[in-house]
Amino acid sequence: MMLEGKVGLVTGGGDGIGRATSIMFAREGAKVAVAGRTLSKVEDTVAEIVSFGGEAVAIGADVSREDEVKRMVEATIEAFGRLDCACNNAAGGGGFRHLHEVDEKNWELTHRVTLKGVWLGLKYQIPAMLETGGGAIVNIASLSGVKGEALQAPYSSAKGGVLALTKTAAAEYAQQGVRINAINPGGILTRALKGYLETVPGAEEHTVKTHAMRRFGQPEEVADAVVYLCSDRSSFITGHALNVDGGTMVNPHIL
Ligand SMILES: NC(=O)c1ccc[n+]([C@@H]2O[C@H](COP(=O)([O-])OP(=O)(O)OC[C@H]3O[C@@H](n4cnc5c(N)ncnc54)[C@H](O)[C@@H]3O)[C@@H](O)[C@H]2O)c1
Repeated sequence: MMLEGKVGLVTGGGDGIGRATSIMFAREGAKVAVAGRTLSKVEDTVAEIVSFGGEAVAIGADVSREDEVKRMVEATIEAFGRLDCACNNAAGGGGFRHLHEVDEKNWELTHRVTLKGVWLGLKYQIPAMLETGGGAIVNIASLSGVKGEALQAPYSSAKGGVLALTKTAAAEYAQQGVRINAINPGGILTRALKGYLETVPGAEEHTVKTHAMRRFGQPEEVADAVVYLCSDRSSFITGHALNVDGGTMVNPHIL
């Protein structure tokens, strides 16, 4: 098991990639703090982990609020005594509008959850890891933050910020044993992506074609990569952004 004896923390653990990552952490031997804004959802993830003999606690926390993020990390330490791996996965806001039609409220909400939420996670997770000699953190970013994405100015810019923050944090804490990486998922079949595919006409046909593999990913395929980057098997990797994207950065169009 790749995370045997470790303690992990996942934000946005009640759905999609966060839920799959929480479960994968537990299957790989970690004790897991599953955090999210909606307590009933993270309790459901915890129930699933407990059902196969894993250890987990549910923590209600809004990642955009500093007091709640501080409490989230404290509650993890109270439950399991240490913190070795964290996945800053929660994102929020978003929507699809031309840049000039985006209102200030949506811009601020998206940046508050998606970018500031990751910074707050790092701010409290890193000192907790330093207490026990180090750890590994994976921030879930997006290819929108690499390529840009029409109609998603708040989200793309927040995710670009997550990538810059990941590299900055990696540079600051590398010598103290905290590795910090990011993952850029492609289209992953979660509630969030399904909502988009169902509401925007033609989106499914168009989006699947942007993947060389001509399919969407499953949350577990991202979770596998998070486990790897949190495990000692990636001990010389930091400041890296790994695309888990079915080949959306290569050009399959003629095939
Ligand atoms: N699904 C995709 O295709 C895709 C592609 C690229 C990047 N991503 C990124 O992957 C991550 C997970 O996406 P998903 O598709 O699983 O999303 P999702 O909407 O299915 O799940 C996100 C979870 O985060 C929680 N959350 C939202 N705001 C929060 C807050 N303020 N505090 C705490 N929790 C909060 C939600 O309640 C939900 O449980 C996000 O960062 C997203 O931007 C997803």
